[in-house]
Amino acid sequence: MTRHLSVAELRRLFPRDFVWGAATSAFQVEGAAQVDGKGPSIWDDFCRVPGAIADGSNADVACDHYNRLDTDLDLIAHLGVHAYRFSISWPRVQPLGAGAANEGGLAFYDRLVDGLLERNIRPYATLYHWDLPAELQRRDGGWLARDTADRFADYARLVADRLGDRVVSFATHNEPWVTAVLGHERGVFAPGVKNRRVAYQVSHHLLVSHGLASQAIRSTRSRADVGIVLNMSPVYPETDSPVDAAHAKLEDGRLVRWYMDALFKSGYPADVLKYLGNDAPVMQPGDNELIAQPCDFLGVNYYHPTVSGSVNPASPASSGAAVTDMGWEVAPQGLAELLLRLHHDYDLPPVLITENGAAYQDELIGGRVEDEQRRQYIESHLVALADVIRRGVDVNGYFVWSLMDNFEWAEGYRKRFGIVHVDYKTLQRTLKSSALWYQALLRTAT
Ligand code: FCB
Repeated sequence: MTRHLSVAELRRLFPRDFVWGAATSAFQVEGAAQVDGKGPSIWDDFCRVPGAIADGSNADVACDHYNRLDTDLDLIAHLGVHAYRFSISWPRVQPLGAGAANEGGLAFYDRLVDGLLERNIRPYATLYHWDLPAELQRRDGGWLARDTADRFADYARLVADRLGDRVVSFATHNEPWVTAVLGHERGVFAPGVKNRRVAYQVSHHLLVSHGLASQAIRSTRSRADVGIVLNMSPVYPETDSPVDAAHAKLEDGRLVRWYMDALFKSGYPADVLKYLGNDAPVMQPGDNELIAQPCDFLGVNYYHPTVSGSVNPASPASSGAAVTDMGWEVAPQGLAELLLRLHHDYDLPPVLITENGAAYQDELIGGRVEDEQRRQYIESHLVALADVIRRGVDVNGYFVWSLMDNFEWAEGYRKRFGIVHVDYKTLQRTLKSSALWYQALLRTAT
């Protein structure tokens, strides 16, 4: 357990120009699922599959952020963050995933970006946070079709043409591992496919689409940084047996090196290709170079370490240690270990922690939510991060996940990650004590 620091002490551990932010994603907060020309996404469809979402819910309303934009912008400003990370819903911009832009959808993001800038908050946009236009899935098989990568590049160009003069950063994808593995190998996320060959072909097309979209954005007049966001963690063997060591190494290949090697070393790791055998993705000449476009930043999402072995193929570690409401082990040193390792193994661009945070069973009592565990989670990860920065890793920002409670994918609304509480009956927002602490941290003079 780390010593409890004052906010001033904690803040002083970070560079003066460090970017402090909060994050959300479109599908999880916006609601307004069928408004202003928006088309359905694969998550809208997935929510209708019986049993897919733990509490049987959907995101038709979610936090109703779409209709509460102005007051939510005031809330973000009130927190005092320098930056806000949000995602753009592809089916709002292109309801069928192709063709001309839907003005109604783009206008919303225009207002969001302008509203942030008016309040002196930097907009960090993510182009794909899992809500593929359903039409592309129904018609072409979604990311299994290489054509979807071209469609994505067109969409990226439309967005960059419209917002690229004001957005400071575009991430192409959020966590391609999740789309590939949870969406297409384990089938627990949209589109619910369970096929390893499909999953790896999808992962390849996601990475190809990252390359194409990066080129497309850079072909516009946008000056925004272009990069990608990966979910990563250290992978520990379940026991100290050689068999489990081999499992953990392979799992590290699937989680970390598959993406990092492709992006920063221009090729997939040999051990994972060997393991995949005939399930390895079909590639075209030049794909390795296309994927390894220069990245202006690397976004890292970190929540918990992974344990892998012969009994347990790969799951969040939780051997007697403190866990969050997701059952995820609280292990701030895992973040430090991960970043030092990436720094050692790759020629990294500047790193942003684009997500970090925790779900707990919060209770709103008398207008207050005392979420001391979440505050400690965030503080301990910040202390670990400061140490990594001191040791020479170039990390220039931190975004807490999440600004507010929201639709937590297959878990529905039961898991609350926000530093702001959302009452799903009234949609009222209440700053939790962690938000008040974060606000105090951000207000501290540097
Ligand atoms: C990440 C997702 C984010 C949120 C957190 C808890 O994998 O990017 O949308 O669900 O997990």
